Amino acid sequence: MTTLQAHETHTTAQLSNDVSPLSLRSAFGQFPSGVAALAASTDRGLAGMAASSFTVGVSLDPPLVAVAIQNNSETWPALRDSDSIGISILGEGQGPIARQLAAKGIDRFEDLDLEVHGPSIFINHAALWLDTTVYAEYPAGDHVMVLLQVNNLADFTNIHDPLVFHKSQFRNLESN
Ligand SMILES: Cc1cc2nc3c(=O)[nH]c(=O)nc-3n(C[C@H](O)[C@H](O)[C@H](O)COP(=O)(O)O)c2cc1C
Repeated sequence: MTTLQAHETHTTAQLSNDVSPLSLRSAFGQFPSGVAALAASTDRGLAGMAASSFTVGVSLDPPLVAVAIQNNSETWPALRDSDSIGISILGEGQGPIARQLAAKGIDRFEDLDLEVHGPSIFINHAALWLDTTVYAEYPAGDHVMVLLQVNNLADFTNIHDPLVFHKSQFRNLESN
């Protein structure tokens, strides 16, 4: 493609004001992410959920990560009351675990290979474990933006690549 053609393609593209939830879900799905499994042993039993809104790089001092949780989450109230929350960045091939940790009406932990550190629960064969405590919560529309402080970590990325979530599908990293 010549430079001129590339330029024309750009100038004819239309911005749409369709920011409906359906349109946004599809648009936001273009942004690849990892998948975090948040899990803890709580007063209400084991609690866990999958979250692709998880992000690192919020703050190094203090060490903070972030996750956006739907206001209607039934699991978050139990997790937030826990003294600590285990975050496992799921590894390649762990897409079914992400689905299991998001499903309703089942035992989300059935047959999972777990590691227990105090109240924090971690998933084995993940790429990274972060042992966290809730630092702050901010209302964010139909979600709450949660900042979590990282107190301990275990990095397994030399043995397990992270799972990638893109356009509602789980993918594995490929080296060029
Ligand atoms: C790949 C994937 C990513 C998800 N990411 C989020 C997320 O970032 N935030 C969120 O609140 N729920 C997310 N969910 C949904 C939760 O895992 C869970 O299904 C939801 O909180 C409803 O369950 P609950 O009522 O027990 O909390 C995700 C689910 C999947 C499968």
